[in-house]
Amino acid sequence: MSSGAYVQSDVEKRKQISIRGIAPVENVSNIKKTFNRHLHYTLVKDRNVATPRDYYYALAHTVRDHLTGRWIRTQQHYYEKDPKRVYYLSLEFYMGRTLSNTMELEEIEDDAGLGNGGLGRLAACFLDSMATLGLAAYGYGIRYDYGIFAQKIENGWQVEEPDEWLRYGNPWEKARPEYVLPINFFGRVEEKDGKKKWVDTMVVFAMPYDSPIPGYGNNTVNTMRLWSAKAPNSFNLRFFNNGEYINAFFEGKELRLKQEYFLVAATLQDIIRRFKSSRFGSRDPVRTSFEAFPEKVAIQLNDTHPAMAIPELLRILVDIEGIPWERAWAITVKSCAYTNHTVLPEALERWPTSLLETLLPRHLQIMYYINHLFLEKKFPGDEARLRRMSIVEEYGEKKINMAHLAIVGSHAINGVAAIHSEIIKSNTFKDFYEMFPDRFQNKTNGITPRRWLLLRLGDGPVPAEGAEAENKMKLAEYIKTTYNIEVNLSSIFDIHVKRIHEYKRQLLNCMHIIHMYNEIKKDPNKAVVPRTIMIGGKAAPGYHMAKLIIKLITQVGSVVNNDPIVGDKLKIVYLENYRVSLAEKIMPAADLSEQISTAGTEASGTGNMKFMLNGALTIGTLDGANVEMREEMGDKNIFIFGMTVDEVEDLKKKGIIMRAMLRFNPLLWSKMCLHNIASSGKFSSDRTISEYARDIWGTEPTEFKLPAPHESPLEYNDSPDAAAAKK
Ligand code: IMP
Repeated sequence: MSSGAYVQSDVEKRKQISIRGIAPVENVSNIKKTFNRHLHYTLVKDRNVATPRDYYYALAHTVRDHLTGRWIRTQQHYYEKDPKRVYYLSLEFYMGRTLSNTMELEEIEDDAGLGNGGLGRLAACFLDSMATLGLAAYGYGIRYDYGIFAQKIENGWQVEEPDEWLRYGNPWEKARPEYVLPINFFGRVEEKDGKKKWVDTMVVFAMPYDSPIPGYGNNTVNTMRLWSAKAPNSFNLRFFNNGEYINAFFEGKELRLKQEYFLVAATLQDIIRRFKSSRFGSRDPVRTSFEAFPEKVAIQLNDTHPAMAIPELLRILVDIEGIPWERAWAITVKSCAYTNHTVLPEALERWPTSLLETLLPRHLQIMYYINHLFLEKKFPGDEARLRRMSIVEEYGEKKINMAHLAIVGSHAINGVAAIHSEIIKSNTFKDFYEMFPDRFQNKTNGITPRRWLLLRLGDGPVPAEGAEAENKMKLAEYIKTTYNIEVNLSSIFDIHVKRIHEYKRQLLNCMHIIHMYNEIKKDPNKAVVPRTIMIGGKAAPGYHMAKLIIKLITQVGSVVNNDPIVGDKLKIVYLENYRVSLAEKIMPAADLSEQISTAGTEASGTGNMKFMLNGALTIGTLDGANVEMREEMGDKNIFIFGMTVDEVEDLKKKGIIMRAMLRFNPLLWSKMCLHNIASSGKFSSDRTISEYARDIWGTEPTEFKLPAPHESPLEYNDSPDAAAAKK
């Protein structure tokens, strides 16, 4: 079959899918009507001037309309049933695109890139799973004006360009200016009648933007609420007429701490407002309201980034609600849980007390007091241990250790893969594990199959292979149009995509490329299995070594790709601007997934799971979730190397393993692929979230079904449809 014909039929298929996805509830003519109304009223365009982008926006609004009834119904349902609510606090939600299966239009949507890598994408997968499992869950984060930078490769170097993802507006979100909340900074602490008060503060406002998070195969539509900073009007009028107030406020070296507190302070106000207006918060006369707080609220801290929630909740309970410290502390610990995502020392957050003293003086006092009560009368004679465990670090510049704060202030602490959780207990937080053994848990990460199961099965006699060939061809077309590189479709697509970091060892891969190149040059007639090695990922703008690694890879690539002796035996492609939407193109076309971090450094990895689910074989170290992937599929179906640090760093050893692998016959390779896919079930984020719900949050999935149309034509009480039906 010619490639043109293949693509044609695929487009046809996708057209059908797109209608089918929306059509079961409403009829097609209704959808068309809504679409045309949006083109007319929302975008104010006719078909003479409408651009593909206008069609995308009209379609996006149509889809959001379609969700609205279920969204409102779900939120009403939470008020009626008053289940325990789960709050997932994260400085990152790496959502990617919302629209899919909608022909060419989907390519117009900008990725929502409010994240860096795995941690932010995990938060996005979790939102999908929480809605799918019917949990009364909320994602709370920050609506950054700019997403993660767009990466350009110029002359082999990474160049960063701003990501103005909101330039044309975001059709999915609903701004809620009527619900803005004040956030305090700076000021001082006043003491009156033994009560502490934070006064003379500077105020900025947090404005919520809500996006719907629909569950799969149910009627649940949860909310992701992102806060945007707004200057207070009075300030704006008096001093900051040009609107630069907010820009100037959220700038400088304390920017990140301000953002972290901004998220936490806005979210906790919202949580407490909702708690007070819920059944057990205010309407149950038998209970004093805040006793029930931990039964009604679970706060999950995605790394320590939102860990200021602990002193902030205490401040609200003690200073504002007037609850005695001991009770407030018990409520806080029972409500909060902390997920650790890294053991790399440079990534563990520490905030100088001098900075906290000016920015958040009351919180600093509270953290000192937490530390005092925590260390008081513990381990007499063991000064070293006290120093190791202190929330306040006193060597060098005085700092608050946010991980220690999060551990002391949470009832559950989890790592993100079995090996990582063991390292935390035996090493990183050993002292704390000995003190609170029951708090430490493992929750191996997962990915949502709704976004990441991309391998479309063909309908030929060998379905999996047919689909695989089609997927490789599509990626090859993308590479041809984007980089003007011809890749050999029968070569192994060997793919290494993730953030560029020394511990992830893109450099090791590069060394292996050089080794293969030298082997080909040494003996050009020797039979080799052709490979296309694709590497992609962004380097942090200030991470010089990572940027140098990109330059090395691209330079090596230009030597290899332009050597006529090499031909199509070996090709190197740098996949520019790796992000969620590009990952969706790459995963289903991969043959080999590179997961080669130094053992003990990658907490989990989730890219590894995405490749596995799509049938690529893994070459990797016994690190992060690779360990459990191997357990699931059996060690015959994965290429593990580097049992010890010495072995993993032995490049020759890796070369030998790789060459041995290439002698495997295609049938065996296909069998291994199927073993990979078939054993990937554990790595669904539905499993991960079920475990969080059971072991940490104490919540249960709920069945929420809207009445069928013949039972009730009403979408929800007071809906426009209900009003129309009454007439
Ligand atoms: P929130 O959870 O308080 O932010 O409110 C979200 C949505 O829940 C509102 O927009 C209403 O649709 C719904 N809601 C709020 N309060 C009530 C209530 O008391 N009963 C039923 N539904 C409510």
